[in-house]
Amino acid sequence: MNIKNVVVIGSGTMGSGIAAQLCNANIPVTLLDLKTEISEKAKKKIIESRPPLLIDKNKINNIKVGNIEEDFDIIKKADWVVEAVVERINIKHNLYEKILKTRKKDSIISSNTSTIPLKILSEKMSDEDKKDFCITHFFNPVRYMGLLEIVSEDINDEKKINFLKNFCEESLGKGVIICKDTPGFLGNRVGVYAMQVAMTEAIKMKLDIEEADAVFGRPMGIPKTGVFGLYDLIGIDLMADVLKSFVKELPKSDVFHEVAEETPLIKNLIETGYTGRKGKGGFYRMNKKDGKKILEAINLISKDYFPSKKIDLNIGEKINLKELVSRNDKYGKYAWSVISKIILYASSLVPNVTKDYNNIDEAMRLGFNWTKGPFEMLEELGVKFFVEKDSQLKSNKFIKELYEKKTETFYEKRQIYTNLETLGKIKQSAKVNKNNKSAFIYDHKDYKIVEFNTKANTLDYDSMDALKKASDKNMIIINEGMQFSAGVNLNYVMDFAKEKNWKAIEKFIHHFQMTCKQLKYCNNIVVSAPSGLALGGGFEVLVQSDYVVAHTNIVTGLVETIVGLIPAGGGTTNMLWRWMQAQEAKKDPDFAPQKVFDIIGYGKTATSPIEAMPFKFLLEKDKSIMNRNKLLSASQDLIDEKKDGYKPPKQPTFKLSGSQVRGKMFQTLEKLFKEKKILEHGMEVGKKLAFVLSGGNTTVNKELSEDDMYALELDAFVKLIEMKKTQARIKHTLSTGKPLVN
Ligand code: NAI
Repeated sequence: MNIKNVVVIGSGTMGSGIAAQLCNANIPVTLLDLKTEISEKAKKKIIESRPPLLIDKNKINNIKVGNIEEDFDIIKKADWVVEAVVERINIKHNLYEKILKTRKKDSIISSNTSTIPLKILSEKMSDEDKKDFCITHFFNPVRYMGLLEIVSEDINDEKKINFLKNFCEESLGKGVIICKDTPGFLGNRVGVYAMQVAMTEAIKMKLDIEEADAVFGRPMGIPKTGVFGLYDLIGIDLMADVLKSFVKELPKSDVFHEVAEETPLIKNLIETGYTGRKGKGGFYRMNKKDGKKILEAINLISKDYFPSKKIDLNIGEKINLKELVSRNDKYGKYAWSVISKIILYASSLVPNVTKDYNNIDEAMRLGFNWTKGPFEMLEELGVKFFVEKDSQLKSNKFIKELYEKKTETFYEKRQIYTNLETLGKIKQSAKVNKNNKSAFIYDHKDYKIVEFNTKANTLDYDSMDALKKASDKNMIIINEGMQFSAGVNLNYVMDFAKEKNWKAIEKFIHHFQMTCKQLKYCNNIVVSAPSGLALGGGFEVLVQSDYVVAHTNIVTGLVETIVGLIPAGGGTTNMLWRWMQAQEAKKDPDFAPQKVFDIIGYGKTATSPIEAMPFKFLLEKDKSIMNRNKLLSASQDLIDEKKDGYKPPKQPTFKLSGSQVRGKMFQTLEKLFKEKKILEHGMEVGKKLAFVLSGGNTTVNKELSEDDMYALELDAFVKLIEMKKTQARIKHTLSTGKPLVN
């Protein structure tokens, strides 16, 4: 078997997402819909999507379009046909009848349904056809969500299902979990239940929606969209449909029913077009007052909208579940009520829905971006604590057995759905050093692993300490969290700035530079394996590693100028050096500085390794990997391949034209200023960047060392952070997440 040609039917949200991911994997795909115009429009939307569904827009021609009347014969050639049309059983049945009459022998047919049981989808099929038919349930957006649930029955050809699983893991980069044919499979069964509990309890406990989202979010290891924010994102109408199907499919005894009833509020929101972000708004909405956009939140009791409030739970950065549920205020009570119900529900599904509790946890990680699943939460709280905290708790068989065994640590293997050697698995057995507050260092085989563990993995003095410490062996820098690193911790820098403690900032940046130099010039190989954001300081770690093994979903680049700074952890210098190796730079000493001036000045970013190459954020020697679970083994392979005879690079020298190229850069800045594309402080930041990239007070015959360049970076950084307008930019970005143009 081989999958070389795929047809996706239905070019809506999911069909186009699936087609785009096939396109990313270089697999030719045809997208069919009722009319060619619909699939044509979908193709256009794929190109314009933000965040982009494609890793390389130039590959769009891997996707052909057509309609189900004139182009149906294309199915004769397909190795796999994915049905992703509207959730209507009669439409799906009619389509299957046509597909099965036309398809190539042995081809795989699957449905992307989220709510219709497999046995109902396939009820009209012959046993022969049933063997080749299954559910492939992708999550939205397909490129970015890791989970794919494959639902099969005993009648299925097991070999074929395993083949499809491997294909989706290898080529499409998904975490594939095989599920039984039960309502909502695993991800939605627990995930939607969790959302409903979080919503119902918030209403019961009279919490504001911002309060509920603040608790049912980062403090629980759940994305900060929380529950009401997530409802708006998914679509309130879509959630209502999903719930109706749960109500229909689940036995009356299932406690899901307690939280699945449609409330008058939800009904009213849908009827008035408040279906979420795609509609007029939802629980949150954007309102315009005096020409200004204001985020508003609905009041669950009065149903009116009020300006949304920021909720401060007054807790540290680190997630501490026990502390959270033990709080004696409304937030603690809400957290306990929600978490305990989710844990009880998830554990009630073992063994009937799945015999492997780990699959539920991993489905919540991959499908809902939770840091920990319900069973890992239980392990963290402790079974004894969980059972004894609340005398009202209606325990179940799974929990009772654990409690009676008196085993506090029950958790067995992680990520059992994959055979790959992942960070998640290694973390359970490797020797770990947890003395550093910003990163863990694992000892595994003959190398070390550094995993940053701060919020969005932002970097501080301790993160650098961890890297330095681990460089006594070959090293892989990798993490399980969503982001590799969003850059230097700006809160940390601002705390010093508030005290005007410039010396401390200088010390930190110098430490950053020296650590990155150590990564580059130590006698061991350093591989960075990023996924998600690798921005600013995060990128500086990549650019000074020997190799980068990048997940296809990286977002990378140097964005410091946006907050009124310049890259000073070696980023400016190393980008300059990279561009100095270009052919054009051999003839023109000003080519590289000007090129890098553009890239850093505009804060350019790439949203995939392919996009990163033309900027030289990544080089030919680096690797691009579709399946995130493969990052660790690919990094290990690289170390094994390169370790014998490894020699660190030579320190570069720089010949730059000083005021000559600076003059050219200033002209660019003046033009931008005149056109009002930058304001006063933009000019200031640009000038500082120009000073560094031009080599400062130098001439083209003078040789500058790398340390000279680092010194220029450091000086510019400190001068900029001392400025009120840089501080204003940072404060604005920290509080709104948006840039300030000043
Ligand atoms: P959608 O409404 O965005 O797109 C459905 C597409 O199917 C439309 O372009 C429509 O023109 C087309 N269509 C309707 N009847 C057709 C027919 N007879 N032949 C060919 N095309 C036809 O729907 P969406 O959201 O993409 O959902 C598709 C499937 O994926 C559904 O089964 C849904 O339950 C499932 N799903 C949806 C998720 C989501 O987040 N939207 C997540 C996971 C699964």
